[in-house]
Amino acid sequence: MKKVNIKGKAANVYVYSDHNELYRAAADQVISRLVAKPDLLLGLATGSTPVPLYDILVEKNKEGIIDFANVNTYNLDEYYPIARKDPNSFVQFMHDNLFDKINLPAENIHIPNAEAPDADAEAIRYERELEKTGGVDIQVLGIGSDGHIGFNEPCDSYIYPTHQVTLTKETISDNSRFFDSEDEVPKHAITMGMGAIMRAKKCILIATGKNKAQAVKNALVDDASPNCPASILQFHRDVDFYLDEDAASLIF
Ligand code: PGA
Repeated sequence: MKKVNIKGKAANVYVYSDHNELYRAAADQVISRLVAKPDLLLGLATGSTPVPLYDILVEKNKEGIIDFANVNTYNLDEYYPIARKDPNSFVQFMHDNLFDKINLPAENIHIPNAEAPDADAEAIRYERELEKTGGVDIQVLGIGSDGHIGFNEPCDSYIYPTHQVTLTKETISDNSRFFDSEDEVPKHAITMGMGAIMRAKKCILIATGKNKAQAVKNALVDDASPNCPASILQFHRDVDFYLDEDAASLIF
């Protein structure tokens, strides 16, 4: 592991040649907080990136090292609309990869409802739930190849509340690997906005692979701009980036 200082920026940046080491280090951030605070408020992400982290949390739960009985989870986003039982819905993804494998009570799961009749009303409802927390204790983040966090897509200004979003062509193309064809990828989503992400007491962003290198550079090195939504993390008080060498290849 190499700790990288980026001139003038506060983020902690860790670069790993070994993926297992990277995910153990990221998971330790969650595990240590959960051991210290059994009623942890845990912000979660979907996509391929967090899956190895979830595998570690499942393993530690099975070993009795961490207990989810009093944890509440808050997911970043969800396609809209999509059936809850659709294998590509994020709620189904979370059940398959984490929730059904740990002792998390169903009522402690918080995620935008993609079956709600009105997306804007659902965004307001979810924002109220997030506001009630005062900020999660730790937020897990991936990053899109277009620089999105959650589904906050590149835009003219950072958007703070939970909102409905139109997905970019790049996101639709990136996510088409989970669907039979690009046409089947939902065109919209409901996402936690920058407000709730910035209220998190700690953020950990994980990025692996060459296709994330440009977004990571835009987020970490360049001037912060809503054209790269992840760049807002330059203003976060406590954020770690866990990168593999490919994802970090443009930051040096
Ligand atoms: P991925 O998605 O982990 O599947 O690359 C990351 C994201 O879109 O935030």
